[in-house]
Amino acid sequence: MEGRFEQTDAGGNIAALLNQLIGLNETSIGSAGVQRAIAQAMQAAGYGNVEAYWQHLQGSQAAIAALIEAIVVPETSFFRNPESFAFLKRWANQTGRQQAAEAPLRLLSLPCSTGEEPYSMAMTLLEAGLSAEQFQVEALDVSAAALTQAERGVFSAYSFRPGQSVTTSLDAVVDRYFQRDGERYRLIDRVRSQVKFRPGNLADPMCLYQTQPYDVVFCRNLLIYFHQVARDRAMRTLHRLLQPNGLLFLGYAETNQIHPDQFESIRYPQAFVYRRVASPAAQSKRRSVANTVPTSALSLRPGLPVPPKLTPDVAKSLPVTPPIYPTLPSAIRPPRLPPPAAQTFLSDIRSMADRGELSIAAAQCDRYLHTHPTSAAAYLLLGEIYQGQGNDEAAMQAFRKAIYLDPTCVEALLYLALRYEDQGHLAAAERLRQRIQRLTVDD
Ligand SMILES: C[S@@+](CC[C@H](N)C(=O)[O-])C[C@H]1O[C@@H](n2cnc3c(N)ncnc32)[C@H](O)[C@@H]1O
Repeated sequence: MEGRFEQTDAGGNIAALLNQLIGLNETSIGSAGVQRAIAQAMQAAGYGNVEAYWQHLQGSQAAIAALIEAIVVPETSFFRNPESFAFLKRWANQTGRQQAAEAPLRLLSLPCSTGEEPYSMAMTLLEAGLSAEQFQVEALDVSAAALTQAERGVFSAYSFRPGQSVTTSLDAVVDRYFQRDGERYRLIDRVRSQVKFRPGNLADPMCLYQTQPYDVVFCRNLLIYFHQVARDRAMRTLHRLLQPNGLLFLGYAETNQIHPDQFESIRYPQAFVYRRVASPAAQSKRRSVANTVPTSALSLRPGLPVPPKLTPDVAKSLPVTPPIYPTLPSAIRPPRLPPPAAQTFLSDIRSMADRGELSIAAAQCDRYLHTHPTSAAAYLLLGEIYQGQGNDEAAMQAFRKAIYLDPTCVEALLYLALRYEDQGHLAAAERLRQRIQRLTVDD
């Protein structure tokens, strides 16, 4: 690959593809790093020319998967950032044990990379005295190669970096939970069976859409690679995935993504752990089936742009349902966005709503719609504001208008489906879910 790769149309398209599919912020690994990874994937696929490789990518799921494998950073280790596990053990000993008496604890590691993190979570809970029946860890990652390695449960000494454990001596953990096999460390089945691995993409707004909420989520060292829109979307997803009072563990460089009205900091040094704030409504009505789109004004934070759409060729080859990758738009068709000036205006209104100035935000949005009556993005935002105000009827009307103007507006469809479910209109909700499914899988 010669010259300034990104300055070619194809180079720019490939970068845009990664940005859209997995939320990658190029600057997080440096444009040289991105170029290296693309060059490596190109070479492995037998292409020397970027334009031809770009054509190849558009027609091949496997090529996209290989490109993603080349770009991701699977760096991880057992008991990475040990204070997080020290706190988890403490929590498991007290609150976790009480909660587990009612129903098995649900824990999530996303991204889980090659498995060291979710297995550390499982070992921590076993060390805290919980039985196998009292908890389950789910572990997701966008990298199929990492998941295959994780499932194998065989590690090298590199996975046990020195100074990784304060909760218990690492030697003792190794003795208890691993069998030595020459230079390899094989995890015993008792730990392996506590963790279920599967593919997942946190940049996909539909990520874990229909799962029950979790008691504990580890989402560490991924948001640092995301661009801001993907971070906002991911934070909303994480909020949706947690039970009220559920715990969120982040990486130390990611804590600035926390919205204090959604998550409160737990003051345990170096654990970087937050508790999902339980709204009064959530406390009185703990959801038992599908997780929710949050209803507080503060859940309004992300939302622009409207999630990218999926196209059939990418979606069909995705290894699991629900889909992993949000979209491979034909020729990297950008998501349907309002023009830049409008985006800024709507972002300002959103910030206003985030600050709790809901009435003013609603009035501004109304005014905007007066002059831009066909803006689906504005109706979506207005719906979210109304929802923040507790005005469900008006919110649903606004979402319906957003869908009328942009039938592919997945976020509005999703909000509407959840509201229908809340109201017990299950058939209508199901129709919308199917529509979302078609949009995200079949386009
Ligand atoms: C640095 S590792 C972090 C692993 C672990 N959480 C830890 O802190 O040790 C980052 C992982 O994120 C995964 N990843 C990258 N983009 C992703 C996405 N959009 N959704 C899910 N996983 C992603 C990569 O495959 C990689 O395994």
